[in-house]
Amino acid sequence: MISIKNVSKIFPSKQKDLTAVNHVNLDIQDGEIFGVIGYSGAGKSTLIRMLNGLELPTEGTVTVAGREISKIKGSELRKARQEISMIFQHFNLLWSRTVSDNIAFPLEIAGVSGPQRKQRVAELIKLVGLEGRENAYPSQLSGGQKQRVGIARALANNPKVLLCDEATSALDPQTTDSILDLLVDINKRLGLTIVLITHEMHVIRKICHRVAVMESGKIVELGSVLDVFKNPQQPITKRFVKQVTEPEETNETVEHLLSRYHSGQVVQLTFIGESAELPLITNLIRNHDVTANILQGKISQTRSGSYGTLFIHLDGAEEEVNKAIDYIRSQQVGVEVVSNG
Ligand SMILES: Nc1ncnc2c1ncn2[C@@H]1O[C@H](COP(=O)(O)OP(=O)(O)OP(=O)(O)O)[C@@H](O)[C@H]1O
Ligand SMILES: [Mg+2]
Repeated sequence: MISIKNVSKIFPSKQKDLTAVNHVNLDIQDGEIFGVIGYSGAGKSTLIRMLNGLELPTEGTVTVAGREISKIKGSELRKARQEISMIFQHFNLLWSRTVSDNIAFPLEIAGVSGPQRKQRVAELIKLVGLEGRENAYPSQLSGGQKQRVGIARALANNPKVLLCDEATSALDPQTTDSILDLLVDINKRLGLTIVLITHEMHVIRKICHRVAVMESGKIVELGSVLDVFKNPQQPITKRFVKQVTEPEETNETVEHLLSRYHSGQVVQLTFIGESAELPLITNLIRNHDVTANILQGKISQTRSGSYGTLFIHLDGAEEEVNKAIDYIRSQQVGVEVVSNG
């Protein structure tokens, strides 16, 4: 559906040219929810804006739904943009128009007749769950409701691709989740390809099939969400993965524990997919002469399976502790000895 080939974007400036996107290659499949994660200034917005022709690449080609976006202009580009919609962090609604009239706006521009427009708006209102709020003005809506209007408006002309630039970054966690659920629902129901950019791994974990990690204009890591969680390669990816797999206080807790336990080992276990559901600890203490103290843990769900980490303190004779660790390894569970007690 989307093919980005050797794309760079350089913003010229008097002092020093700024390379916002640096030789990016990326293919996004039809019907996929694809996430791009990176810190501020990584070039995410610049990249996504090249997908609908809001920015032109300095080098390389961008093809979306069979059209080379980086080449077309004028009315052809406007037509292409009806198939590539976008939603924004700050919603970009028209403040003097009601919910219905905001959603009708792209239909007016596309020349859809009055009665058809009305029918389509009613469908969209239902799709995004805004029944009863048709005549409200944006200032009378919550952030989540505003983004629902943004989504309905973006879907008005039956796009093939929906681009989301930090679409949930202005929302609280609960509202974020409800908007993410809506995006998944739309993806399934309409088969829409979704490209979203974010700096929150939670968003990636919850709804994306694949993820690209962006740093200084480059894609430094790319893969299925579960694979990236399982086996992050780059330091930046490891930091993002920790955002969701480790509770914030983990470092402090582990340090505290290490100072408390003077024997045995503190180990970090990593569970992926089905291994996350094994009765591992029960088997461990049944079959080995060790004690196992659960210190801290967390399991997260991704689109393609669960992923969890667990910190435990194993105590007993050194040989027994080592045997216990070997046993855990044999169970397809990642084991890292945090430090000797
Ligand atoms: N129109 C522009 N002119 C000059 N420089 C720009 C322009 N747009 C973006 N940049 C620069 O390109 C780099 C990448 O910016 P971009 O907005 O793509 O980052 P981002 O990853 O979306 O960051 P954020 O998470 O803060 O939104 C930044 O250094 C930015 O200052
Ligand atoms: Mg941005």
